[in-house]
Amino acid sequence: MQAKIEQLKQKIEQAVLTVTSSKTLHEVKTLFLGRTGEVSDLMKGMRDVPKEERPQVGKIINDLRVWTEQKFDELEIKIKKAELEQRYKAEAIDVTMPGKKGEVGAYHPNTLIRNELISIFSGMGFEIFEGPEIENDYYNFTALNTPADHPARDMQDTFYITEDLLLRTQTSAGQIRVMEKKAPPIKILSPGKVYRSDDDATHSPMFSQMEGLVVDKGITLCDLKGMLDEFAKKIFGENIKTRLRPSYFPFTEPSVEVDVSCFECDGKGCRLCKGTGWIEVLGAGMVNRHVLEGCGVDPDKYSGFAFGMGIERIAMLKYGINNMKLLFEGDTRFLKQFKD
Ligand code: DAH
Repeated sequence: MQAKIEQLKQKIEQAVLTVTSSKTLHEVKTLFLGRTGEVSDLMKGMRDVPKEERPQVGKIINDLRVWTEQKFDELEIKIKKAELEQRYKAEAIDVTMPGKKGEVGAYHPNTLIRNELISIFSGMGFEIFEGPEIENDYYNFTALNTPADHPARDMQDTFYITEDLLLRTQTSAGQIRVMEKKAPPIKILSPGKVYRSDDDATHSPMFSQMEGLVVDKGITLCDLKGMLDEFAKKIFGENIKTRLRPSYFPFTEPSVEVDVSCFECDGKGCRLCKGTGWIEVLGAGMVNRHVLEGCGVDPDKYSGFAFGMGIERIAMLKYGINNMKLLFEGDTRFLKQFKD
């Protein structure tokens, strides 16, 4: 019996050496200590041992069981530790590795200019009004002193939806909507998208405008000029000068085109200002009395000025962008440059 036990012990020692993982540990352990394992079999064999020898043989077999269990317990601790270490190694984080960069967005140059304009004009007491992009003929043209047969309609190539409905060609339509609803004093700023069938390096079928309207008693062209001077200095720089040139818009009388002194060459003449020293930035004028009358505002009591500018045009001038398409393509290589 003793020899058999020794032999089994040796077999166990040998088997233990083959164990390399929790999985093989379980398999090998079952070979000896499982229900039909070799050590368990020995214990079952006690039935055939003569009664008087049983206590002694029992003790030997039991010692073997304890010895075997201990062996596997020790092995289990060793294997678990090794496996844990291996896992730690595999899951280790190298804190010195460069991190993954999350892309942070930036404001679109149009939005930057729009916000800047809103901030400048709201500082002067203007309120925001946003009109609809789908307008009817009346607001976009007729009420702006441009009836159906008026040649000025040709100034803007219009996208018509029906005979009466159209995509607004100018934010000026908002002037009428405001004056119809509100009695003077009026001081509104109306930003928004406008549409014209026009497409080249400086024109796009969809672009944005910012309209301004002031109506009150005693408003003069001087007020317009003073306000525009202030605006030009805020957006292009303190040394900027403005000048008014006579122009024509059906809804203003007189009408003017507003130039600012070239901020690139300081008025000396360069490529940006085409050698003139001046850059055209917006259209403006005194609200035509027909327009006031049509909105129920008494032109003998009230007067007003209006102005309208292209946001993309201001953005292109201010940021030196030479092709309007860049503002609509959404190319991140372009847009990234406007991060603060
Ligand atoms: N609506 C004009 C355009 O789109 C711009 C404009 C000119 C607006 C003169 C005005 C203005 O308010 O007074 O070309």
